[in-house]
Amino acid sequence: MSFQVDVVVMAAGKGTRMKSLRPKVLHRLGGRALAQHVIDCAARLSARSVVVITGHGAEQVEAGLSAPEAAPGAAATALKYVRQEPQLGTGHAVQQAAPALPDDGVTLVLSGDVPLTQPDTLQALLDLCAGERLALLTLDMPNPTGYGRIVRAADGAVQAIVEQKDASEAQRAITEIYSGIMAVPTRLLKGWLARLDNQNAQGEYYLTDVVKFAVGDGLGVQAHRIDDAVQVAGVNSPLQLAELERAYQLRVAEALMVQGTRLADPARLDVRGTLVCGQDVEIDVNAVFEGRVVLGDGVRIGANCVIANAVIEAGAVIHPFTHIDGEKLGVSVGPGALVGPFARLRPGAKLGAEVHIGNFVEVKNSTLAAGAKANHLAYLGDATVGERVNYGAGSITANYDGANKHRTVIEADVHVGSNCVLVAPVTLGAGGTVGGGSTITKSTPPGALSVARGKQVSIESWQRPQKKKV
Ligand code: UD1
Ligand code: MG
Repeated sequence: MSFQVDVVVMAAGKGTRMKSLRPKVLHRLGGRALAQHVIDCAARLSARSVVVITGHGAEQVEAGLSAPEAAPGAAATALKYVRQEPQLGTGHAVQQAAPALPDDGVTLVLSGDVPLTQPDTLQALLDLCAGERLALLTLDMPNPTGYGRIVRAADGAVQAIVEQKDASEAQRAITEIYSGIMAVPTRLLKGWLARLDNQNAQGEYYLTDVVKFAVGDGLGVQAHRIDDAVQVAGVNSPLQLAELERAYQLRVAEALMVQGTRLADPARLDVRGTLVCGQDVEIDVNAVFEGRVVLGDGVRIGANCVIANAVIEAGAVIHPFTHIDGEKLGVSVGPGALVGPFARLRPGAKLGAEVHIGNFVEVKNSTLAAGAKANHLAYLGDATVGERVNYGAGSITANYDGANKHRTVIEADVHVGSNCVLVAPVTLGAGGTVGGGSTITKSTPPGALSVARGKQVSIESWQRPQKKKV
Protein backbone atom coordinates (compact mmCIF):
# COMPACT_ATOMS: atom_id res chain seq x y z
CA MET A 1 0.00 0.00 0.00
CA SER A 2 1.51 3.27 -0.96
CA PHE A 3 -0.01 6.70 -0.82
CA GLN A 4 1.25 10.12 0.14
CA VAL A 5 0.16 11.63 3.42
CA ASP A 6 -0.60 15.32 3.85
CA VAL A 7 -1.17 16.39 7.44
CA VAL A 8 -3.56 19.16 8.46
CA VAL A 9 -2.91 20.65 11.90
CA MET A 10 -5.81 22.67 13.29
CA ALA A 11 -4.41 25.51 15.32
CA ALA A 12 -6.70 28.50 14.78
CA GLY A 13 -8.62 28.28 18.06
CA LYS A 14 -8.18 30.78 20.82
CA GLY A 15 -7.39 28.70 23.87
CA THR A 16 -9.35 31.00 26.18
CA ARG A 17 -8.92 28.77 29.22
CA MET A 18 -5.14 29.10 29.13
CA LYS A 19 -5.73 32.76 30.21
CA SER A 20 -2.48 33.60 28.45
CA LEU A 21 -1.36 36.20 25.92
CA ARG A 22 0.61 33.48 24.18
CA PRO A 23 -1.35 31.45 21.59
CA LYS A 24 -2.20 28.07 23.07
CA VAL A 25 -0.33 25.92 20.57
CA LEU A 26 2.93 27.74 21.38
CA HIS A 27 2.89 26.74 25.05
CA ARG A 28 5.74 24.37 25.70
CA LEU A 29 5.73 20.72 26.58
CA GLY A 30 9.09 19.03 27.07
CA GLY A 31 10.70 22.25 25.83
CA ARG A 32 8.89 22.24 22.47
CA ALA A 33 5.75 24.10 21.38
CA LEU A 34 2.64 21.92 21.54
CA ALA A 35 2.09 22.25 17.78
CA GLN A 36 5.76 21.48 17.12
CA HIS A 37 5.23 18.04 18.66
CA VAL A 38 2.43 17.49 16.16
CA ILE A 39 4.53 18.74 13.22
CA ASP A 40 7.50 16.59 14.25
CA CYS A 41 5.23 13.56 14.55
CA ALA A 42 4.09 14.17 10.96
CA ALA A 43 7.72 14.00 9.83
CA ARG A 44 8.16 10.68 11.58
CA LEU A 45 5.28 9.39 9.44
CA SER A 46 7.21 10.62 6.37
CA ALA A 47 4.31 12.92 5.50
CA ARG A 48 4.66 14.82 2.22
CA SER A 49 3.43 18.08 3.73
CA VAL A 50 2.05 19.64 6.87
CA VAL A 51 -0.54 22.39 6.54
CA VAL A 52 -1.03 24.34 9.76
CA ILE A 53 -4.30 26.25 10.02
CA THR A 54 -3.76 29.44 11.99
CA GLY A 55 -6.15 32.14 13.15
CA HIS A 56 -5.85 33.54 16.66
CA GLY A 57 -2.30 34.89 17.01
CA ALA A 58 -1.53 33.63 13.50
CA GLU A 59 1.65 35.65 13.03
CA GLN A 60 3.07 34.59 16.37
CA VAL A 61 2.18 30.95 15.72
CA GLU A 62 3.74 30.97 12.26
CA ALA A 63 6.92 32.57 13.62
CA GLY A 64 7.04 30.17 16.55
CA LEU A 65 7.00 26.89 14.61
CA SER A 66 9.54 25.39 12.27
CA ALA A 67 9.72 22.74 9.57
CA PRO A 68 10.46 19.32 11.01
CA GLU A 69 13.77 17.53 10.63
CA ALA A 70 13.39 14.82 8.02
CA ALA A 71 13.19 11.28 9.36
CA PRO A 72 16.33 9.28 8.50
CA GLY A 73 16.31 8.34 4.83
CA ALA A 74 13.03 10.16 4.16
CA ALA A 75 12.30 13.19 2.02
CA ALA A 76 11.79 16.46 3.88
CA THR A 77 8.25 17.29 4.96
CA ALA A 78 7.10 20.66 3.58
CA LEU A 79 5.52 23.05 6.10
CA LYS A 80 2.76 25.41 4.94
CA TYR A 81 0.35 27.74 6.67
CA VAL A 82 -3.19 28.74 5.81
CA ARG A 83 -5.22 31.30 7.70
CA GLN A 84 -8.75 30.75 8.96
CA GLU A 85 -10.44 34.05 9.76
CA PRO A 86 -12.97 34.04 11.31
CA GLN A 87 -13.11 30.60 12.95
CA LEU A 88 -16.39 28.97 11.98
CA GLY A 89 -15.68 25.44 13.14
CA THR A 90 -13.42 22.48 12.46
CA GLY A 91 -15.05 21.78 9.07
CA HIS A 92 -14.54 25.39 8.04
CA ALA A 93 -10.91 25.13 9.18
CA VAL A 94 -10.22 22.15 6.93
CA GLN A 95 -12.05 23.87 4.06
CA GLN A 96 -9.37 26.59 4.22
CA ALA A 97 -6.65 23.95 3.92
CA ALA A 98 -8.28 22.10 1.02
CA PRO A 99 -6.60 24.08 -1.80
CA ALA A 100 -3.20 23.18 -0.33
CA LEU A 101 -3.98 19.44 -0.35
CA PRO A 102 -3.21 17.46 -3.54
CA ASP A 103 -6.08 15.17 -4.61
CA ASP A 104 -3.92 12.07 -4.90
CA GLY A 105 -3.04 11.81 -1.19
CA VAL A 106 -4.56 10.96 2.14
CA THR A 107 -5.28 13.80 4.55
CA LEU A 108 -4.48 13.15 8.20
CA VAL A 109 -6.28 15.67 10.42
CA LEU A 110 -4.55 16.47 13.72
CA SER A 111 -4.94 19.20 16.34
CA GLY A 112 -2.15 21.55 17.34
CA ASP A 113 -3.09 21.19 21.00
CA VAL A 114 -2.93 17.36 21.12
CA PRO A 115 0.81 16.75 21.47
CA LEU A 116 1.30 13.15 22.58
CA THR A 117 -0.16 11.04 19.79
CA GLN A 118 2.36 8.33 18.87
CA PRO A 119 3.46 7.82 15.27
CA ASP A 120 2.63 4.09 15.43
CA THR A 121 -0.95 4.92 16.45
CA LEU A 122 -1.30 7.24 13.47
CA GLN A 123 0.33 4.70 11.20
CA ALA A 124 -2.28 2.14 12.27
CA LEU A 125 -4.99 4.69 11.44
CA LEU A 126 -3.44 5.31 8.00
CA ASP A 127 -3.27 1.56 7.40
CA LEU A 128 -6.97 1.33 8.18
CA CYS A 129 -7.70 4.17 5.78
CA ALA A 130 -5.57 2.39 3.17
CA GLY A 131 -5.92 5.30 0.78
CA GLU A 132 -9.57 4.39 0.22
CA ARG A 133 -11.67 4.85 3.35
CA LEU A 134 -12.46 7.34 6.08
CA ALA A 135 -10.77 6.17 9.30
CA LEU A 136 -11.40 7.69 12.74
CA LEU A 137 -9.29 7.47 15.86
CA THR A 138 -11.63 6.77 18.77
CA LEU A 139 -11.36 6.15 22.48
CA ASP A 140 -13.50 4.78 25.29
CA MET A 141 -13.92 7.33 28.04
CA PRO A 142 -15.63 6.75 31.38
CA ASN A 143 -16.67 10.41 31.32
CA PRO A 144 -17.22 11.40 27.69
CA THR A 145 -18.82 14.79 28.43
CA GLY A 146 -17.95 17.41 25.84
CA TYR A 147 -16.73 15.05 23.16
CA GLY A 148 -18.29 13.92 19.91
CA ARG A 149 -19.88 10.46 20.34
CA ILE A 150 -19.37 7.58 17.94
CA VAL A 151 -22.79 6.31 16.93
CA ARG A 152 -22.72 2.72 15.67
CA ALA A 153 -25.42 0.58 14.03
CA ALA A 154 -26.52 -2.74 15.53
CA ASP A 155 -23.85 -4.54 13.50
CA GLY A 156 -21.17 -2.22 14.91
CA ALA A 157 -20.71 -0.14 11.75
CA VAL A 158 -19.95 3.52 12.43
CA GLN A 159 -22.93 5.68 11.47
CA ALA A 160 -22.11 9.20 12.63
CA ILE A 161 -20.30 11.43 15.08
CA VAL A 162 -22.76 13.44 17.17
CA GLU A 163 -21.44 16.42 19.10
CA GLN A 164 -22.28 16.73 22.80
CA LYS A 165 -24.58 19.70 22.23
CA ASP A 166 -26.51 17.96 19.46
CA ALA A 167 -26.71 14.58 21.15
CA SER A 168 -29.88 12.92 22.47
CA GLU A 169 -29.97 11.51 26.00
CA ALA A 170 -29.30 8.03 24.61
CA GLN A 171 -26.39 9.25 22.49
CA ARG A 172 -24.86 11.04 25.48
CA ALA A 173 -24.65 7.67 27.21
CA ILE A 174 -22.23 6.45 24.53
CA THR A 175 -18.69 6.26 25.94
CA GLU A 176 -16.83 5.86 22.65
CA ILE A 177 -15.69 9.31 21.59
CA TYR A 178 -14.06 10.85 18.54
CA SER A 179 -10.51 11.92 19.31
CA GLY A 180 -10.46 14.75 16.74
CA ILE A 181 -8.07 12.71 14.55
CA MET A 182 -9.06 11.21 11.21
CA ALA A 183 -7.41 9.92 8.04
CA VAL A 184 -9.34 10.38 4.80
CA PRO A 185 -8.57 10.14 1.09
CA THR A 186 -8.25 13.78 0.04
CA ARG A 187 -10.37 13.48 -3.09
CA LEU A 188 -13.31 12.18 -1.02
CA LEU A 189 -12.68 14.73 1.73
CA LYS A 190 -12.94 17.64 -0.71
CA GLY A 191 -16.29 16.42 -2.00
CA TRP A 192 -17.66 16.13 1.54
CA LEU A 193 -16.25 19.47 2.70
CA ALA A 194 -18.22 21.15 -0.08
CA ARG A 195 -21.43 19.71 1.39
CA LEU A 196 -20.97 20.89 5.02
CA ASP A 197 -23.48 23.25 6.59
CA ASN A 198 -23.80 24.88 10.00
CA GLN A 199 -27.33 23.72 10.87
CA ASN A 200 -26.50 22.46 14.34
CA ALA A 201 -26.61 23.47 17.99
CA GLN A 202 -23.39 25.50 17.77
CA GLY A 203 -23.95 27.05 14.31
CA GLU A 204 -20.50 25.75 13.30
CA TYR A 205 -19.23 23.85 10.29
CA TYR A 206 -18.46 20.46 11.82
CA LEU A 207 -15.72 18.40 10.24
CA THR A 208 -17.32 15.43 11.96
CA ASP A 209 -20.28 15.63 9.54
CA VAL A 210 -18.10 13.96 6.88
CA VAL A 211 -18.92 10.68 8.62
CA LYS A 212 -22.58 10.83 7.74
CA PHE A 213 -21.69 11.78 4.14
CA ALA A 214 -19.37 8.78 3.87
CA VAL A 215 -22.10 6.49 5.21
CA GLY A 216 -24.65 8.09 2.88
CA ASP A 217 -22.31 7.49 -0.06
CA GLY A 218 -22.22 3.82 0.89
CA LEU A 219 -18.58 3.88 1.99
CA GLY A 220 -17.75 2.03 5.19
CA VAL A 221 -16.19 4.15 7.95
CA GLN A 222 -13.41 2.52 9.96
CA ALA A 223 -12.62 3.25 13.59
CA HIS A 224 -9.26 2.60 15.22
CA ARG A 225 -10.17 2.37 18.89
CA ILE A 226 -7.38 2.89 21.40
CA ASP A 227 -7.36 2.89 25.20
CA ASP A 228 -4.44 5.23 25.92
CA ALA A 229 -6.20 8.52 26.72
CA VAL A 230 -2.94 10.48 26.93
CA GLN A 231 -2.41 10.04 23.19
CA VAL A 232 -5.53 12.00 22.34
CA ALA A 233 -5.62 14.37 25.31
CA GLY A 234 -5.78 18.02 24.40
CA VAL A 235 -4.42 20.99 26.31
CA ASN A 236 -7.02 23.57 27.28
CA SER A 237 -5.78 24.84 30.64
CA PRO A 238 -2.56 25.19 32.62
CA LEU A 239 -3.66 22.19 34.67
CA GLN A 240 -3.98 19.99 31.59
CA LEU A 241 -0.66 21.29 30.28
CA ALA A 242 1.07 20.30 33.53
CA GLU A 243 -0.62 16.88 33.49
CA LEU A 244 0.55 16.17 29.95
CA GLU A 245 4.02 17.47 30.78
CA ARG A 246 4.25 14.83 33.53
CA ALA A 247 2.91 12.13 31.22
CA TYR A 248 5.50 13.13 28.62
CA GLN A 249 8.35 13.18 31.12
CA LEU A 250 7.38 9.77 32.45
CA ARG A 251 7.41 8.45 28.91
CA VAL A 252 10.91 9.90 28.37
CA ALA A 253 12.09 8.47 31.71
CA GLU A 254 10.73 5.02 30.85
CA ALA A 255 12.43 5.04 27.46
CA LEU A 256 15.75 5.92 29.13
CA MET A 257 15.36 3.19 31.75
CA VAL A 258 14.46 0.61 29.10
CA GLN A 259 17.81 1.22 27.46
CA GLY A 260 19.61 0.94 30.81
CA THR A 261 19.87 4.43 32.27
CA ARG A 262 19.45 4.38 36.07
CA LEU A 263 17.21 7.14 37.36
CA ALA A 264 16.98 7.71 41.11
CA ASP A 265 13.34 8.69 40.60
CA PRO A 266 11.64 8.72 37.19
CA ALA A 267 9.12 11.23 38.57
CA ARG A 268 11.90 13.75 39.21
CA LEU A 269 13.49 14.05 35.78
CA ASP A 270 12.81 16.78 33.23
CA VAL A 271 14.03 16.48 29.66
CA ARG A 272 13.19 19.62 27.70
CA GLY A 273 14.92 18.59 24.51
CA THR A 274 16.97 15.51 23.66
CA LEU A 275 18.93 13.45 26.14
CA VAL A 276 21.20 10.71 24.78
CA CYS A 277 22.73 8.37 27.36
CA GLY A 278 25.48 5.77 27.03
CA GLN A 279 25.74 2.65 29.16
CA ASP A 280 25.68 2.76 32.97
CA VAL A 281 24.60 6.36 33.26
CA GLU A 282 23.18 7.33 36.67
CA ILE A 283 21.02 10.39 37.19
CA ASP A 284 20.02 11.55 40.66
CA VAL A 285 16.83 13.44 41.47
CA ASN A 286 15.71 16.79 40.06
CA ALA A 287 17.96 16.87 37.03
CA VAL A 288 16.79 19.18 34.22
CA PHE A 289 18.14 18.67 30.71
CA GLU A 290 17.57 21.20 27.94
CA GLY A 291 18.49 21.39 24.26
CA ARG A 292 20.68 18.49 23.18
CA VAL A 293 22.63 16.74 25.93
CA VAL A 294 24.81 13.67 25.43
CA LEU A 295 26.04 11.66 28.44
CA GLY A 296 28.79 9.12 27.78
CA ASP A 297 29.21 5.69 29.38
CA GLY A 298 29.33 5.69 33.17
CA VAL A 299 28.53 9.39 33.57
CA ARG A 300 26.95 10.31 36.91
CA ILE A 301 24.75 13.36 37.37
CA GLY A 302 24.18 14.53 40.94
CA ALA A 303 20.96 15.88 42.38
CA ASN A 304 19.59 19.27 41.29
CA CYS A 305 21.73 19.85 38.22
CA VAL A 306 20.56 21.86 35.20
CA ILE A 307 22.38 20.80 32.05
CA ALA A 308 21.78 22.26 28.59
CA ASN A 309 23.48 21.86 25.22
CA ALA A 310 26.43 19.85 26.43
CA VAL A 311 28.43 16.70 25.75
CA ILE A 312 29.69 14.94 28.86
CA GLU A 313 32.15 12.19 28.11
CA ALA A 314 32.59 8.76 29.63
CA GLY A 315 33.15 8.51 33.36
CA ALA A 316 32.72 12.20 34.11
CA VAL A 317 30.89 13.09 37.32
CA ILE A 318 28.74 16.16 37.67
CA HIS A 319 28.21 16.82 41.36
CA PRO A 320 24.97 18.29 42.79
CA PHE A 321 23.72 21.81 42.07
CA THR A 322 25.82 22.33 38.97
CA HIS A 323 24.55 24.54 36.16
CA ILE A 324 25.81 23.89 32.65
CA ASP A 325 24.50 25.75 29.59
CA GLY A 326 26.37 25.57 26.30
CA GLU A 327 23.73 27.67 24.47
CA LYS A 328 24.92 27.93 20.83
CA LEU A 329 28.66 27.32 21.43
CA GLY A 330 28.15 24.16 23.46
CA VAL A 331 29.98 22.83 26.49
CA SER A 332 32.11 19.71 26.51
CA VAL A 333 33.30 17.85 29.57
CA GLY A 334 36.11 15.37 28.97
CA PRO A 335 36.35 11.77 30.14
CA GLY A 336 36.75 11.31 33.87
CA ALA A 337 36.33 15.01 34.64
CA LEU A 338 34.82 16.08 37.97
CA VAL A 339 32.56 19.12 38.01
CA GLY A 340 30.84 20.75 40.99
CA PRO A 341 29.16 20.80 43.39
CA PHE A 342 27.91 24.33 42.67
CA ALA A 343 29.90 24.83 39.47
CA ARG A 344 28.83 26.85 36.45
CA LEU A 345 29.93 26.00 32.90
CA ARG A 346 28.94 28.57 30.29
CA PRO A 347 29.05 28.56 26.47
CA GLY A 348 32.37 27.46 25.01
CA ALA A 349 33.66 25.76 28.16
CA LYS A 350 35.73 22.83 26.90
CA LEU A 351 37.15 20.62 29.61
CA GLY A 352 39.69 17.91 28.76
CA ALA A 353 40.13 14.51 30.38
CA GLU A 354 40.27 14.38 34.18
CA VAL A 355 39.79 18.13 34.59
CA HIS A 356 38.48 19.16 38.02
CA ILE A 357 36.15 22.11 38.40
CA GLY A 358 35.09 22.65 41.99
CA ASN A 359 32.56 24.64 43.95
CA PHE A 360 31.70 28.18 42.90
CA VAL A 361 33.92 28.05 39.84
CA GLU A 362 32.66 29.67 36.62
CA VAL A 363 34.13 28.76 33.22
CA LYS A 364 33.18 30.58 30.01
CA ASN A 365 34.62 30.25 26.50
CA SER A 366 37.73 28.55 27.84
CA THR A 367 39.63 25.40 27.05
CA LEU A 368 41.16 23.40 29.87
CA ALA A 369 43.61 20.67 28.84
CA ALA A 370 43.82 17.27 30.51
CA GLY A 371 44.36 17.25 34.25
CA ALA A 372 43.90 20.99 34.81
CA LYS A 373 42.22 21.94 38.09
CA ALA A 374 40.29 24.93 39.35
CA ASN A 375 38.80 23.72 42.58
CA HIS A 376 37.43 26.71 44.46
CA LEU A 377 35.77 30.10 43.93
CA ALA A 378 37.34 31.06 40.61
CA TYR A 379 36.58 32.54 37.18
CA LEU A 380 38.10 31.44 33.88
CA GLY A 381 36.81 33.46 30.91
CA ASP A 382 38.34 33.50 27.40
CA ALA A 383 41.26 31.42 28.64
CA THR A 384 43.40 28.65 27.20
CA VAL A 385 44.62 26.51 30.05
CA GLY A 386 47.35 23.90 29.58
CA GLU A 387 47.72 20.40 30.97
CA ARG A 388 47.97 19.93 34.74
CA VAL A 389 47.59 23.64 35.50
CA ASN A 390 46.50 24.32 39.06
CA TYR A 391 44.38 27.43 39.30
CA GLY A 392 44.10 28.73 42.86
CA ALA A 393 41.08 29.61 44.93
CA GLY A 394 39.63 33.04 44.28
CA SER A 395 41.65 33.69 41.11
CA ILE A 396 40.09 35.30 38.08
CA THR A 397 40.85 36.24 34.53
CA ALA A 398 40.11 39.92 33.93
CA ASN A 399 39.09 39.25 30.35
CA TYR A 400 37.01 42.37 29.67
CA ASP A 401 38.48 45.86 29.52
CA GLY A 402 35.09 47.52 29.30
CA ALA A 403 35.04 47.44 25.51
CA ASN A 404 36.74 44.28 24.27
CA LYS A 405 37.39 40.76 25.48
CA HIS A 406 40.95 39.43 25.58
CA ARG A 407 42.47 35.99 26.00
CA THR A 408 44.52 34.62 28.83
CA VAL A 409 46.91 31.79 28.01
CA ILE A 410 48.12 29.64 30.89
CA GLU A 411 50.67 27.14 29.64
CA ALA A 412 51.13 23.59 30.89
CA ASP A 413 52.06 22.93 34.53
CA VAL A 414 51.61 26.52 35.69
CA HIS A 415 50.47 27.00 39.29
CA VAL A 416 48.40 30.10 39.86
CA GLY A 417 48.18 30.93 43.58
CA SER A 418 45.06 32.04 45.38
CA ASN A 419 43.34 35.36 44.76
CA CYS A 420 45.23 36.31 41.60
CA VAL A 421 43.95 38.65 38.88
CA LEU A 422 45.22 37.81 35.40
CA VAL A 423 44.68 40.94 33.31
CA ALA A 424 44.22 39.82 29.70
CA PRO A 425 45.78 39.69 27.20
CA VAL A 426 48.49 37.85 29.05
CA THR A 427 50.43 34.58 28.79
CA LEU A 428 51.83 32.62 31.72
CA GLY A 429 54.84 30.58 30.52
CA ALA A 430 54.93 26.83 31.04
CA GLY A 431 55.82 25.52 34.47
CA GLY A 432 55.74 28.98 36.06
CA THR A 433 54.27 29.87 39.44
CA VAL A 434 52.26 32.96 40.29
CA GLY A 435 52.38 34.04 43.92
CA GLY A 436 49.03 34.37 45.73
CA GLY A 437 47.41 37.77 45.57
CA SER A 438 49.25 38.84 42.42
CA THR A 439 47.75 41.10 39.79
CA ILE A 440 49.49 39.97 36.61
CA THR A 441 49.47 42.51 33.79
CA LYS A 442 52.56 41.34 31.85
CA SER A 443 53.32 37.92 30.47
CA THR A 444 55.50 35.73 32.68
CA PRO A 445 58.50 33.62 31.61
CA PRO A 446 58.42 29.83 31.75
CA GLY A 447 59.56 28.21 34.97
CA ALA A 448 59.78 31.44 37.02
CA LEU A 449 58.02 32.54 40.18
CA SER A 450 56.15 35.74 39.40
CA VAL A 451 54.83 37.89 42.22
CA ALA A 452 53.01 41.18 41.68
CA ARG A 453 51.74 42.58 44.95
CA GLY A 454 52.75 45.02 47.66
CA LYS A 455 55.79 43.84 49.63
CA GLN A 456 54.93 42.71 53.16
CA VAL A 457 56.08 45.07 55.91
CA SER A 458 55.77 44.70 59.68
CA ILE A 459 55.79 47.73 61.99
CA GLU A 460 56.95 46.60 65.42
CA SER A 461 55.83 49.46 67.66
CA TRP A 462 52.55 50.25 65.97
CA GLN A 463 49.71 51.17 68.35
CA ARG A 464 46.05 50.49 67.62
CA PRO A 465 43.84 53.60 67.82
CA GLN A 466 42.07 53.93 71.19
CA LYS A 467 38.49 55.07 71.82
CA LYS A 468 38.43 58.71 73.04
CA LYS A 469 37.36 59.13 76.72
CA VAL A 470 34.52 61.70 77.26
C1 UD1 B 1 -13.90 18.42 18.24
C2 UD1 B 1 -14.81 17.43 17.53
C3 UD1 B 1 -15.31 16.40 18.58
C4 UD1 B 1 -14.14 15.71 19.25
C5 UD1 B 1 -13.21 16.75 19.83
C6 UD1 B 1 -11.95 16.07 20.34
C7 UD1 B 1 -15.84 18.73 15.78
C8 UD1 B 1 -17.06 19.40 15.31
N1 UD1 B 1 -15.92 18.13 16.95
O1 UD1 B 1 -14.61 19.08 19.24
O2 UD1 B 1 -16.12 15.45 17.94
O3 UD1 B 1 -14.61 14.83 20.25
O4 UD1 B 1 -12.81 17.71 18.83
O5 UD1 B 1 -11.17 16.99 21.03
O6 UD1 B 1 -14.87 18.67 15.06
N2 UD1 B 1 -10.19 24.80 15.44
C9 UD1 B 1 -9.83 25.61 14.39
N3 UD1 B 1 -10.78 26.38 13.82
C10 UD1 B 1 -12.07 26.38 14.24
C11 UD1 B 1 -12.42 25.56 15.33
C12 UD1 B 1 -11.46 24.77 15.91
O7 UD1 B 1 -8.67 25.63 13.98
O8 UD1 B 1 -12.88 27.13 13.65
C13 UD1 B 1 -9.16 23.97 16.07
C14 UD1 B 1 -8.94 24.25 17.52
O9 UD1 B 1 -7.93 25.24 17.69
C15 UD1 B 1 -8.49 22.89 18.03
C16 UD1 B 1 -9.22 21.91 17.13
O10 UD1 B 1 -9.60 22.64 15.98
O11 UD1 B 1 -7.10 22.71 17.87
C17 UD1 B 1 -10.46 21.29 17.78
O12 UD1 B 1 -11.33 22.34 18.17
P1 UD1 B 1 -12.15 22.27 19.53
O13 UD1 B 1 -13.04 23.44 19.59
O14 UD1 B 1 -11.26 21.98 20.65
O15 UD1 B 1 -12.99 20.93 19.25
P2 UD1 B 1 -14.48 20.64 19.62
O16 UD1 B 1 -15.36 21.42 18.75
O17 UD1 B 1 -14.60 20.78 21.07
MG1 MG C 1 -15.48 23.80 19.49
